Amino acid sequence: MTMPRTPEPEVMDDPKAAEAYAEADFSESNQAFVDNFIKAFPECSGKRVLDLGCGPADIPIRLAQADSKISITAVDASKAMIELAQKAILKSGVAARVLLHQGRLPGLMLQTDGFDAVVSNSILHHIPDPADFWYEVKRLGKRGAGVWVLDLARPDSPDDAQAIVETYSADEHQLLKDDFYNSLLAAYTIDEVNAQLKEAELHETLEAVMVSDRHWAVAGRLPLDV
Ligand SMILES: C[S@@+](CC[C@H](N)C(=O)[O-])C[C@H]1O[C@@H](n2cnc3c(N)ncnc32)[C@H](O)[C@@H]1O
Repeated sequence: MTMPRTPEPEVMDDPKAAEAYAEADFSESNQAFVDNFIKAFPECSGKRVLDLGCGPADIPIRLAQADSKISITAVDASKAMIELAQKAILKSGVAARVLLHQGRLPGLMLQTDGFDAVVSNSILHHIPDPADFWYEVKRLGKRGAGVWVLDLARPDSPDDAQAIVETYSADEHQLLKDDFYNSLLAAYTIDEVNAQLKEAELHETLEAVMVSDRHWAVAGRLPLDV
């Protein structure tokens, strides 16, 4: 039997936790996220990309550095994260093409059909009703927009979750290890994500597939007739 989800707080608004998250080294996985997006969606070069749940904005900054013409709207509900993101963007030299927006989905005050691609890393497991997330992806992306969403997959048991934490984060700060463990317990399984896509009527063009022992990815395009 699948282990039930244990939800975790939605918005990461504790300044200490946000800072610990921003200081963690996700450079390898974040650069891979950006490189894979660029490889999968070359037509998005120079276009408008939306990042849902950008945290400290490491991914939007890397994306703007990798494509000198792309522009990114980076959204997060957490004031603490937006402040960290603001500092990082100013330091990065790409501030002209990374626009920050503090807002909580669903119902973001952003233009419907306004984006050529929607990307998101590690936020779905924070969202209590995942339909809210897929609704925003569908509403804010243009018809045929690229979709590149990645998150953790919930393991079968708490012991499996603990083993994953020890395998990949043994030397990290305890706050981060706890956060990782709680995120694994809050994550959606691949079957749950595919059911969400079906419910959102996105399943004909989008599918979740496992891309590592602990992550799934949804890569594809929004339907042309949404
Ligand atoms: C684990 S962090 C991931 C940050 C970033 N995407 C990354 O890969 O480093 C999840 C982020 O989603 C944000 N978040 C959670 N629920 C949200 C919502 N409903 N609307 C906007 N942001 C949300 C949290 O505040 C947090 O910054």
